[in-house]
Amino acid sequence: MLMGWLNKVVVGLMVVLIAYKLSKMNKEPPLPTLDPNPWWAPGEPQQEDEVDDLKARLALPLRLTPGLEDANFTYGINADTLHTIVQYWRKKYDWNKRQTRLNTYPHFKYVLTTLLTLISFGQLEVAQVFLKLMKRLGYKQFYLQGGDWGSLIASNMATMYPNNTLGVHLNMISVRTNAVSLKMILGAYLPAGVLVAKEDQDKIYPLSNLYSMILRESGYAHLQATKPDTIGAALNQSPVSLAAYILEKFSSWTHRDNLHQPDGSLLQQHFPISLDAMLDNICIYWYGSPVPSPPASGFTLR
Ligand SMILES: *[C@@H]1O[C@H](CO)[C@@H](O)[C@H](O)[C@H]1NC(C)=O
Ligand SMILES: *[C@@H]1O[C@H](CO)[C@@H](O)[C@H](O)[C@H]1NC(C)=O
Repeated sequence: MLMGWLNKVVVGLMVVLIAYKLSKMNKEPPLPTLDPNPWWAPGEPQQEDEVDDLKARLALPLRLTPGLEDANFTYGINADTLHTIVQYWRKKYDWNKRQTRLNTYPHFKYVLTTLLTLISFGQLEVAQVFLKLMKRLGYKQFYLQGGDWGSLIASNMATMYPNNTLGVHLNMISVRTNAVSLKMILGAYLPAGVLVAKEDQDKIYPLSNLYSMILRESGYAHLQATKPDTIGAALNQSPVSLAAYILEKFSSWTHRDNLHQPDGSLLQQHFPISLDAMLDNICIYWYGSPVPSPPASGFTLR
């Protein structure tokens, strides 16, 4: 008696359930949202391709010119040092770890096509472009950091756009007025302490040291300013070429005497920048590389 009643309830519930399911089946389900650019493997598709491409180029046999004996870095980065660093990059540089670290920061890639068609493009125009760029990226206010040309650009931005600037940090400061130039030249002839403080004398004079160092180290700037496409072709083709170009600067711009060390000091324990950090930097130049290359475009701006 009880079982018969239970059976009826169970059968009844099943009928209701089936009817409910059937009614649902007739209803048109909402469209799912599909990723327009699906990717199911780990990492970012674009990045994976770029990393694979970089690794493939890095794996090509080296074709380095052996340096002169004891030349150290006086003629630029030498083959032994470059070879050692490329071996490290191939075998020991932890691509995943470094990539994960870099990916903790937001990345933007923005192509400013008009930049390439303008010939006389000064720091002020760059300041205008950067403000426009920041606004397009959605930032009305920002902090500025600038070194080298960036220090002039960041200074201009802070001066011209105080309402957009939250703060400025410069790692190169230059005061370039006629009065300063005159003071520097006169200071060479006047006794120490008259125009230039005694403790600063040896940092500035003799001026011939400064000018010979500028002459020795600025070949790249002239090349990049006058023939950026040529050097760009070499640097964009091979990460080893790009590494050689940038590593030499890490050496000579960290200390002017590093060029007298067999490894330009790059491989020494006390060198202030780790090999990983330098290679990260080179990777960033590589991945962001348009034509002309970034180091070149920096110096076509006058
Ligand atoms: C900055 O903001 C202040 C206050 O809103 C305004 O008076 C001033 O004109 C602005 N300056 C510039 C350069 O836009
Ligand atoms: C190169 O390095 C060696 C070893 O440190 C040193 O004896 C030599 O003077 C250096 N030569 C130059 C040209 O820097």
